[in-house]
Amino acid sequence: MKSLIDIINFYKDIGVEYMKPLKISSKEEEFEKLKEKALNCRGCELYKTRTNVVFGEGNINASLMFVGEAPGRDEDLKGRPFVGRAGRLLRDILKDVGIDASDIYIANCLKCRPPNNRDPQADELIACFGFLKEQIRLISPKVIATLGRYSTYELTNQKGAMGTLRGRVFSYGAIKVVPLYHPAYLLRNPNAVDVFIEDLRMVKRLLEQ
Ligand code: URA
Repeated sequence: MKSLIDIINFYKDIGVEYMKPLKISSKEEEFEKLKEKALNCRGCELYKTRTNVVFGEGNINASLMFVGEAPGRDEDLKGRPFVGRAGRLLRDILKDVGIDASDIYIANCLKCRPPNNRDPQADELIACFGFLKEQIRLISPKVIATLGRYSTYELTNQKGAMGTLRGRVFSYGAIKVVPLYHPAYLLRNPNAVDVFIEDLRMVKRLLEQ
């Protein structure tokens, strides 16, 4: 086997004078670059009305990723996902089910709040999907739990009612995707909480497999 010196000498002999070491950026660096890009994004009209970009947060090595719809008022003000009432409910239920909050990452389909919390528009979802796709590629979780119909459609291509999609297992490449009710729906329909808990227990079992 040739030594490194032999290889370098070979290149010198054929006239190569300078070799630039290849800089391989770490996952953390790639994630930071992506975040920086999102913070400066003007890919759709929502940049005009946002207070903060809500890029996402959590463990970038998480085995479980949650994907919601879009930031609401609290999230827009704080620049953090799921920090309002729906988010508090989600975090409380995660604790009850025994899902480790330090092993999750939470993101949304849209990184900017739609005015008055209106539904995301197709052009906004398309403009923002690249960020979510990159977040998923870098984190590479074992399971993604989609919260509500927008993220479920983006990642599974399923357009049915959440009542028929929830708790089923789809895939996004090699990643398992489990649609769940959106926590804001649970606030309006408290009797769906039990089903949500049941689905999260299933997610936990998938993580343990
Ligand atoms: N609803 C969402 O879908 N995402 C948030 O971050 C907050 C509320």
